[in-house]
Amino acid sequence: MRAVSFLDRQIQTESNARTYPRRLPIVIDKAEGLWVTDVNDKVYMDCLAGAGTLVLGHNHPVVIDALRWHLDEGRPMIALDLPTPTKDAFVEALLSTLPCPLRDGKIHFCSPSGSDAVEAAVKLVKIATGRRGILAFSGGYHGHTHGSLAMMGNRGPKRAISGLMPDVQFMPFPYCYRCPFGRATACGDDRSDPPCQHLLRAMVHDPNSGLPPLAGALVEVVQGEGGVIPSNPAWMRAMADTLKNEAALIVDEVQTGWGRTGKLYAFEHSGVCPDVVVLAKAIGGGLPLAVIIYRRELDCWESGAHAGTFRASQMAMAAGLATLKHIQDAGLAENAEVMGRRLCSRLKELQTKHPFIGDVRGVGLMLGMEIVAPEADATGRPATDGARARRLQTALLAQGVIAELGGRDDAVLRLLPPLNITLRETDLIADAITAACGNVAA
Ligand SMILES: Cc1ncc(COP(=O)(O)O)c(C=O)c1O
Repeated sequence: MRAVSFLDRQIQTESNARTYPRRLPIVIDKAEGLWVTDVNDKVYMDCLAGAGTLVLGHNHPVVIDALRWHLDEGRPMIALDLPTPTKDAFVEALLSTLPCPLRDGKIHFCSPSGSDAVEAAVKLVKIATGRRGILAFSGGYHGHTHGSLAMMGNRGPKRAISGLMPDVQFMPFPYCYRCPFGRATACGDDRSDPPCQHLLRAMVHDPNSGLPPLAGALVEVVQGEGGVIPSNPAWMRAMADTLKNEAALIVDEVQTGWGRTGKLYAFEHSGVCPDVVVLAKAIGGGLPLAVIIYRRELDCWESGAHAGTFRASQMAMAAGLATLKHIQDAGLAENAEVMGRRLCSRLKELQTKHPFIGDVRGVGLMLGMEIVAPEADATGRPATDGARARRLQTALLAQGVIAELGGRDDAVLRLLPPLNITLRETDLIADAITAACGNVAA
């Protein structure tokens, strides 16, 4: 088998820190849209899609055409942070998608990873406020650089790393299925004062809370790697309200940005406008690109405060611009909403048949199924069943679907298919999950 020899060679040569091929042992040869073909000619539906990067799927014609055009025109591949016509068009289009005051704000191009953009956002608000404290949230994920890691909920990857960024204070995220306050029912209601909101207010306003002087709070509107956990609009509004005049609200839209949740930006579900938004993944149309966009008043860092050689790849901006235009012209955020709802309802049907599916949740085409054991954990909720989740992932791969796991104990099956999937493709994914669940039911 050709795939086996590629995988063997990878094990010989690549770092022990490699991740995906351990659980998804495939060797991709060709790719188009949702579909990828491995070197053994097996065909898969890619519901990982570059960890949510490929919002138009693999090798979309608008992206290919934009890249060809860029090269045929003799435009540069790299121009450091000098202006170019490609960059100018990209910045104008990107800013026009945002509400005020971000629309009239500033953009900073970062080294091309979400993690580096998170680093930039944190540095920016520390410099602008002259304060050092950052609020982060349980279950949060912001990447693997030293600073980003300090704001990660998962304690595993941080265990052996000393000297992480100080002054990070974690607060509970509204994970209603496993309510950090032990409540049995979700409480996202505008009129009540749910404990997640109450605690946030109390801690930020209490002069004796022990918090360091706050520069900002870093939050995902829908936690992705943390197990597909949507916050609720009321919580987001309470957060914005609490932080007003206290600290900057940094919204990490690395995974949710550009249509994933059924709106161009996930923060739009709440009507809240962040002080800083962090973007990567989708904005490069499949090529690496990462930026932060922030309120103009925060722009008080000095030249070179967050530099890097590979900032602002011109090819990525050409691909990103074409991607954005296509998302808008083809109504792909709306498609994500419609297809996501359809897929979610099929998953909820499955939940009624299989007691190991504890929760089905998500927004748009960012969906998760939490796999649980019959017995309760220390909080009284069904314990996570990471082992069965891994069996499900493997069974799903055999059915021709690539999907990732996340959340506590990696017990959440996560689906991040391209935003342009069709009705037929949506149903094929649901059919494959149905079959795979049947296979791991015993
Ligand atoms: C919300 C969020 N922030 C930051 C990151 C880090 O991005 P990168 O992997 O490009 O460093 C990710 C990656 O999945 C993410 O989902």
